Amino acid sequence: MKIEKICCIGAGYVGGPTMAVIAQKNPKIKVTIVDINSDRIAAWNSPDLSKLPIYEPGLAEIISETRDKNLFFSTDVDTAIDEAEMIFISVNTPTKTYGKGKGQAADLKYIELCARNIAKVATTDKIVVEKSTLPVRTAETIKSILQNSGNGINFHILSNPEFLAEGTAIEDLLSPDRVLIGGESEEAIESLANVYASWVSQNQILRTNLWSSELSKLTANAFLAQRVSSINAISELCEHTEANVDEVAKAIGMDSRIGSKFLKASVGFGGSCFQKDILNLVYISRSYGLNEVADYWEQVIIMNDHQKRRFSDKLIKTLYNTVSGKKISILGWAFKKDTNDTRESAAIYVTDHLLNEQALVSVYDPKVPEQKVYSDLNYLNSRTEQENEDFVTVDKSPYSALKGSHAVAIMTEWDEFKEYDWEKIYSEMKKPAFIFDGRNILNKGKMQDIGFEYYSIGQ
Ligand code: NAD
Ligand code: UGA
Repeated sequence: MKIEKICCIGAGYVGGPTMAVIAQKNPKIKVTIVDINSDRIAAWNSPDLSKLPIYEPGLAEIISETRDKNLFFSTDVDTAIDEAEMIFISVNTPTKTYGKGKGQAADLKYIELCARNIAKVATTDKIVVEKSTLPVRTAETIKSILQNSGNGINFHILSNPEFLAEGTAIEDLLSPDRVLIGGESEEAIESLANVYASWVSQNQILRTNLWSSELSKLTANAFLAQRVSSINAISELCEHTEANVDEVAKAIGMDSRIGSKFLKASVGFGGSCFQKDILNLVYISRSYGLNEVADYWEQVIIMNDHQKRRFSDKLIKTLYNTVSGKKISILGWAFKKDTNDTRESAAIYVTDHLLNEQALVSVYDPKVPEQKVYSDLNYLNSRTEQENEDFVTVDKSPYSALKGSHAVAIMTEWDEFKEYDWEKIYSEMKKPAFIFDGRNILNKGKMQDIGFEYYSIGQ
């Protein structure tokens, strides 16, 4: 099938950047990204590129090059579906918060709504591409809905999971390690492969069956998260044995069988996907009666929760077992650097724990707006919204966030934190002044020379 028009349902962290790159590399294809969230679409259409809903290095440049030429953002979902030959489903698939599988299974209601909408409005044959991360065998559900409620036209389902990481999304999309396409129809697979072939070499476009493709995505995230939990587990052991986790990571990473990436000990992984995808893997394994498999992967999450908890416990213990009424500064709210995404960020949980102990928390993040900090805390329902406002301030300047505080906790590895005037910060903090570096980004010796009591992970 010749692809002239593409529709992407879901203008989020995946839909936006992925389609922007597809549009840039395929100037002859008209790409329309649709979303039911009209504020989000308005932000994507904003003439002021600093107002785009997503911050990603390099994204604004591609949007300015393609928008209103062959890339369009719209709330008119039905028209975009009907005119496209290929439809990507890139909507959110969060963990279920109700009913069977609550807290573990993926909530597929948005996926099902998309499938029903496609079936309702499509009048010509379509290739439907699963871009969202889905439990293995979801394509069967989508196929059943399309075939049973459609207008008698042909639908081909493909699985094309996305492997980009936030903060490096554009880089990852422009030079992917691989593009994975799972499907049953060879013709449909080749139609999608041709879209990618505009910039990805054929030997990096991997074709598999549907189920391998769906399961590979969950597996990739599980393996990546497992590495972080593994090094974090070792970090705790390092703290008891005078080994240094960064030295251990370097030593093992030089073994080419292990590899050096994804071995940075931290306050715990965050992000919208690692936890949700592993919980989903655990749920699927249990639903097949594979309890040992489920327990094995669940441990990755247990370790991550432990790492976040022990970080805040250590801070409280070091501050003479109480933070009540003390000002504690949180540097970084995003779940990693170079993104404004805060989903499942360790900062949220560490702050919540400190607030339970009646700390006065001040937050600074270079890209996260004040309202997001409050909404993340309110979402936990640990206390009233008024109490969150009374106990938490969000500062526009790092120096005011740090002034007069007893301790600073570094939650995100933003590069600018390394460049601050730490001598000035020290002079303006209460003494003894403590740093809890949840990312091991500051120079321990230098901080100690200034006079800080410096604690890091696994050292
Ligand atoms: P997101 O929440 O940023 O975006 C999803 C968008 O879909 C939202 O704007 C929402 O309004 C829209 N939407 C939901 N239902 C809709 C409907 N019926 N019609 C039209 N629009 C609808 O989510 P995201 O981070 O882009 O993730 C999307 C999927 O991609 C998830 O399955 C996720 O697991 C997967 N994924 C995410 C990343 C990442 O880095 N965020 C990376 C790889 C894969
Ligand atoms: C991750 C995967 O890396 C992507 O391949 C995948 O597409 C995506 O999930 C997804 O499915 O959503 P992302 O969550 O955006 O991407 O970012 P990562 O770079 O993987 O970082 C995840 C978390 O782990 C962050 O909190 C990060 O700080 C932490 N991390 C990562 C560590 O603590 N140590 C490391 O060595 C690496």
